[in-house]
Amino acid sequence: MPIYSDKVMDHFMNPRNVGEIENPDGIGEVGNPICGDMMTFYIKVKDDRIDDVKFKTFGCGAAIAVSSMVTEMAKGKTLDEVMKFTPELVAGELGGLPKAKFHCSNLGAQALHKAIKNYRDKKKEKEAAST
Ligand code: FES
Repeated sequence: MPIYSDKVMDHFMNPRNVGEIENPDGIGEVGNPICGDMMTFYIKVKDDRIDDVKFKTFGCGAAIAVSSMVTEMAKGKTLDEVMKFTPELVAGELGGLPKAKFHCSNLGAQALHKAIKNYRDKKKEKEAAST
């Protein structure tokens, strides 16, 4: 039996939404100190929804597949919906991940959550500055 599902292979070979967004509304960067992999997510927000999302991942194949899948899952969703994404959900959408690769899906969810947090913090700062 192959270790990786067809979906993982597809997203690894043809990752969606790779790159950087100019003037993003939020940035989230995470890394795993053990494997040394790193992910950065860039988001654009409109009406409290993810309008656009791109990523740069320096990491293993599963990390790349996870990043790609997370961007597809997040587009058009509300920020609250995306904040509820769990590593289990992401791994499930990919048709499962081997146990040793589960932390890769954790990174994907974390990076996106961080980008949303960054967006919300910046928004708060702006609001505080204008009052
Ligand atoms: Fe660490 Fe995949 S091995 S992110």
